Amino acid sequence: MTPVDAAWAALSKAAEAARDRRIVGLFDAEPDRLAHLTLAAAGLEIDLSKQPWSLADLEVMLDLAHASGVDTARAGLFAGGIVNASEGRPALHMALRAADGADYRAAGQPVSREVEATRDAMRAFADQVRSGVRRGCTGKPFRAIVHIGIGGSDLGPRFVWEALKPLDPPIDLRFTANVDPAELAQALTGLDPAETMIVTVSKTFTTLETLTNAEVARAWLRASLGPASDSHLVAVSAAPDKAQAFGVPADQVFGFWDWVGGRYSIWSSVGLSCAVALGYDVFERMLAGARAMDAHFKSAPLALNAPVLLALAHIFNRNGLGRPIRAVVPYAQRLRLFAAFLQQLEMESNGKRVTADGRPAPHATAASVFGDAGTNGQHAFFQLLHQGTDVIPVDIVAVHRGTEGDVDGQTKLLANAIAQAEALMVGRSEADVRAELTAAGRSPEEIDMLAPQRTFPGDRPTSFIRLERLDPERLGALIALYEHKTFVEGVLWGINSFDQWGVELGKSLATRVLGELNGGPAGAHDPSTQALIARLKS
Ligand code: F6P
Repeated sequence: MTPVDAAWAALSKAAEAARDRRIVGLFDAEPDRLAHLTLAAAGLEIDLSKQPWSLADLEVMLDLAHASGVDTARAGLFAGGIVNASEGRPALHMALRAADGADYRAAGQPVSREVEATRDAMRAFADQVRSGVRRGCTGKPFRAIVHIGIGGSDLGPRFVWEALKPLDPPIDLRFTANVDPAELAQALTGLDPAETMIVTVSKTFTTLETLTNAEVARAWLRASLGPASDSHLVAVSAAPDKAQAFGVPADQVFGFWDWVGGRYSIWSSVGLSCAVALGYDVFERMLAGARAMDAHFKSAPLALNAPVLLALAHIFNRNGLGRPIRAVVPYAQRLRLFAAFLQQLEMESNGKRVTADGRPAPHATAASVFGDAGTNGQHAFFQLLHQGTDVIPVDIVAVHRGTEGDVDGQTKLLANAIAQAEALMVGRSEADVRAELTAAGRSPEEIDMLAPQRTFPGDRPTSFIRLERLDPERLGALIALYEHKTFVEGVLWGINSFDQWGVELGKSLATRVLGELNGGPAGAHDPSTQALIARLKS
């Protein structure tokens, strides 16, 4: 048995024992549990004590991390090694948020000067647009930006904007991702073309949805302003030649590099719309927060390393206890898009069934992630979290000090975050419920019927992440925390977290079906698909 196999076997054994005890009981058995399982990193505080592992199990998980080569993999990631083997690329998003003067290298090639030059160009552009030095073709200043992109070219910027946008933004930033024309129609409605900038973001500049929407937006500008309105077009792409061929003026094409994965790209010029609409200084503060998390992840020993421990807690649930779903519930309305962001980050990164060298993955990989803002989620899917037949671990993110709105509401929000984590873990025993129903004078028949329904099994794990406040630094740190967590999980599962071959088949079939819907020759399909094409042909 290899050391890695032995470490996985130890995890199975530890998890077996965990099935026979309750999380809450561990607090009595382990008086220093809370201190041991609470850690601070880059301005975030993370409490992993409501997870099902004992402190001894944590050691088992750390052995697994060591045996799986997390130390070496982490060093390789920061060194710009080819961690994305199927595409022959490094994954060096940390270089994008490094301080000026850093020396990151992608596969040996220095990249930091180029990164700094792009950041300088972004700052200059953002300042010019915000100050009105750079205006639209009629001389009006830009008051709106429509950001067009999908997947990693959308979810990060959209999440960041929702999290940090001013209450009354001087620039109205809107997003369009879906090829469904309804989304772009909504985004453009009410905007004055003379004051609107279109920022098209696509790493490849080949994505069907994005190019379709960009063409419609360009036509919308031209229809009222003529060809001069091409000066309202801005592009962000790792294929700048394609963006220029589309008609974007060369000095408004912002590049990035193939070593930046789409879902790790918010730190690059993909964040341009946010940098303009929020102000470059805000964007830079977000980079600084992520940089602080990078420094922590890079140097903290595994036992004290926030992304590593968050990953290990997840793997204890996912692989040890066979839990294939995780919920993410930020108790902050401004973070309500966090689950959508994490769906791509985690499921596109780690939803893989073969290892990086092409063998069947020996262990289950990424869980499904879903979620919504608390307290809204409490009135939707929390019933299932508390009493469903599956145990679904929950990541709760709470922002301690709200900066807007009513203080009383903020306290109620926090009370709910804390109470839900407690309720999920502690539950409510049937004996308690029976006693209460008896005291309320219910009949024995009623009690037999009601008590099981009002019982909460508890023992449902949470990770609790506290942000002192929702500022750009902590937002950056939070995103980087999950990026590195995702990487660590990929290392333990032996998969490549930086490719996404699973999205290709659907894309190519859609192209074929599109040809048929547009009157092209019929292709070979299964009867169900054939019938759908026939029915939906216009
Ligand atoms: O969904 C697949 C994908 O390639 C994502 O990985 C990526 O973020 C998204 O499409 C958008 O790609 P692009 O930025 O090249 O338009």
